[in-house]
Amino acid sequence: MSNHLHKIIFPTAGMGTRFLPTTKATPKEMLTIVDKPLIQYGVEEALAAGMDEVVMVTGRGKRSIEDHFDISAELENSLNASGKTELYEIVSHISRMVEVAYIRQKQPLGLGHAVLCAAPWVRDECFGVSLADELILSKGKNAMEQLRAVHEQTGASVIGLACVPDNEVNRYGIVKAHDEDGFLRLDDMVEKPQTELAPSNMAMIGRYIFTPRLFEILKTTKPGKGNEIQLTDAMCQLAKEEPVYGVLIEGERFDAGNPYGFLLANATLGLQHPKYGKLLRQALRNIL
Ligand code: UTP
Repeated sequence: MSNHLHKIIFPTAGMGTRFLPTTKATPKEMLTIVDKPLIQYGVEEALAAGMDEVVMVTGRGKRSIEDHFDISAELENSLNASGKTELYEIVSHISRMVEVAYIRQKQPLGLGHAVLCAAPWVRDECFGVSLADELILSKGKNAMEQLRAVHEQTGASVIGLACVPDNEVNRYGIVKAHDEDGFLRLDDMVEKPQTELAPSNMAMIGRYIFTPRLFEILKTTKPGKGNEIQLTDAMCQLAKEEPVYGVLIEGERFDAGNPYGFLLANATLGLQHPKYGKLLRQALRNIL
């Protein structure tokens, strides 16, 4: 049993090709959903789940992520001096909510490689991985808390899943699973299978908890699909060596790493927003 789960990796070094040209000079993790960047939603979710040691794996052009979580003395002083207390609180809270470490992935060699870059920082502990462009809104426990609950019962690796329509399985890592004592034990995973070859319609949705064994496996994982070191390939091997469980995440999920998912996330959270919700609803009615 492992209750010691503090560390979480945010891989943010990808190229964001699905969101070009925006992502040419702006990290997709800094895209805004209503009034906050995606990465802040991800960090807040992790903190609420008790993961309070954060590492971001970054690459070139990702400076704004570091600046977002850093203290901006000039801005804070100016807000303070002009009596903008509410804004001061918002801004100073971001830089003080968590210590963030940054590790550079020198080349985008794949998600598996990005996770491996953080191995010296995690060392011999279980750890979380979160892909911030997958935004998950849950009414009860957040996505990471749902994973953590299963990890605390099993001490094993746990993967966040969602059922997707058959015609979308070719966009995701899809798992093969069976029931084991009330848990969903994963037997296999395939990256972006054709619909006919997919072992199920349960897709991995960017939330993971791993035992440190994953790092040993990643060290010897050869480049796979797209010539990238695939996290999915390493997970297949992990599932052969030790139990890996899946959790069907309760919540509404948005793939905000592409323009359509991003628009849906903004519309949904915008309509729920205490300040803008009513106005937006009226404006949308007028447009329609
Ligand atoms: P994606 O598959 O979404 O790739 O990566 P991407 O490059 O960011 O975006 P598209 O598909 O080209 O539009 C999943 C996660 O892994 C990170 C990304 O930043 C994203 O959070 N990643 C991917 C890395 O950190 N390094 C890599 O080499 C690849």
